[in-house]
Amino acid sequence: MINEQIMKLRASGKKVFHFGFGQSPFGVHPKISEALKAHATSTQYLPSLGLPELRANIATYLNNHQHVQAKKEHILIGPGSKELIYQSILLLDGTYIIPRGSWVSYLPQVKLANKKYVLLQTSFHENYKLQAKDLDAFCKSSEAGQYFLLLNSPNNPTGAIYSEDELQDIATICAKFGIIVFSDEIYSQLSYQLDHAPSIASYYPENTLVFGGMSKVFAAGGYRLGFVSIPENLKSLIPIYESMFSETFSAVSAPVQYAALEAYRYENVIQKTVRDSAIILKAIASFTYDFLCELKIKCTKPQGGFYMLIDFGNYAEALGELNLEDSVTLSRFLLEEYQVALLPGTDFYFPPQELIFRLAFVDFDGRKALQFYQSNEKVQLDYKFIQNFAPNVFEGLNRINKFVATLK
Ligand SMILES: Cc1ncc(COP(=O)(O)O)c(C=O)c1O
Repeated sequence: MINEQIMKLRASGKKVFHFGFGQSPFGVHPKISEALKAHATSTQYLPSLGLPELRANIATYLNNHQHVQAKKEHILIGPGSKELIYQSILLLDGTYIIPRGSWVSYLPQVKLANKKYVLLQTSFHENYKLQAKDLDAFCKSSEAGQYFLLLNSPNNPTGAIYSEDELQDIATICAKFGIIVFSDEIYSQLSYQLDHAPSIASYYPENTLVFGGMSKVFAAGGYRLGFVSIPENLKSLIPIYESMFSETFSAVSAPVQYAALEAYRYENVIQKTVRDSAIILKAIASFTYDFLCELKIKCTKPQGGFYMLIDFGNYAEALGELNLEDSVTLSRFLLEEYQVALLPGTDFYFPPQELIFRLAFVDFDGRKALQFYQSNEKVQLDYKFIQNFAPNVFEGLNRINKFVATLK
C-alpha cells in the first residue's frame, strides 16, 4: 500500500524519502555479474536441488565464513530464501514461534501454509530480541507438541544481532523442548563488528536449518537465489524437498547458479567489498541512531543489516492531540505531509497503538559510496560523507526533525 502511495506521489513530481524499502544499495560485484553474462547460453535445466559445485561452495563458505558446519549434500538451492522458508514451513508440521519484531513475511507464510503460530513478547530494553527465559516460560506453559522457532540475526526490522551467549541460552531451551530452529541468517556477513554474525547452529547444529542467499550480502536480490542448510536430524526430508522443488520451480535459473558459484567462492576482493559495505552501513546507521536519539525518538541500535526500529512513544500525547494515535495513521500522515516513508510496526507484529516503525537507511547510491570509500584511503565516514553520499537519508532525517519540532 505504501509503495503504491509512493509511486503516486513520485508520479505527481514529489520527492519521497524512502525509509520503507530494504533493498541492498551496493550493486552486485562485477565478478559476479560477469559470471552471469558468461553463462547466458547455459539454457539447460539444472538438478532440482542445485548445481553440485555450488552446493559444495556454499558448504565451504558456511564453514569458513559463518561458523556453520554444513555438508554439501545438505545444501539446497532455491529461488530466494523466502521460497525456501515457505517450502520448509509447508513441509514441517507444528506450531511456529515468531518473536514480535520479526520479518514481515513469516506470519503470512505460516498462515498461507495453514500452520499454527504464536507471537512471543519482546521488549525495547532487550532490543526486541527473544529472551531464553521467555521461550522457556512459554514452552513450560504450552501443550506438548512440535514447535519451530523463527529466529533472524542480524535482524530485520531491528538491526539487532544475538550474541554468542544469548544464542547458547536459546539453544539450551530449544534442546530441552526439541524445538526445531529456522535460523534466518540472510544478513550474516553484513554484521558491523565481525566478519559475520554468530549462528545458533554453532550450539544447536542437530536441529537448526540455516537460511541465506545472494540478496543482501551480494546485493543481488533480483537474481533470486537462496539456500538452506538442512541439519542432520532432518536429512531424511531432503528427497521430499527435491520432489517439491521439482514439482514447483524445477530448479533455479542456470546462469544465476553459475553467478552464485563465483559469489560463494568468496574470494578476497568480494570479501573486501562485503566488509566495506558493512562499514558504510555502520556509519549511516550510527549517524541515523544518534540523530534520532537527539530528537528523543527511541531507537534500536543497529549492529548489522539495513534497518532499525524507531518509536515515537515519547510523543504519544502530542500525537494523540493531532489524532495520530496509531502507527498506521501516523505512517500515512508522515508520507503525505512530509514525504517520509516508514513502515508501521503492525507489519512486524506490534500492536497499532505502539508508535513503532521500521526505518531502512538504504535509500542511497551504494555503488558511488563504495567506490569513493574504496578509492580514497583516508575517507572519514562522518556527517559530510553521509550528506554527500546518502543525501536522501540526510534530508529524510531532517524532515523527521521538522515534524518532531511541531510536537514540542
Ligand atoms: C529477514 C529476511 N529473510 C529473508 C528475506 C528473503 O530474501 P530472499 O528471498 O531475497 O533470499 C529477506 C528479504 O527481505 C529478509 O529481510
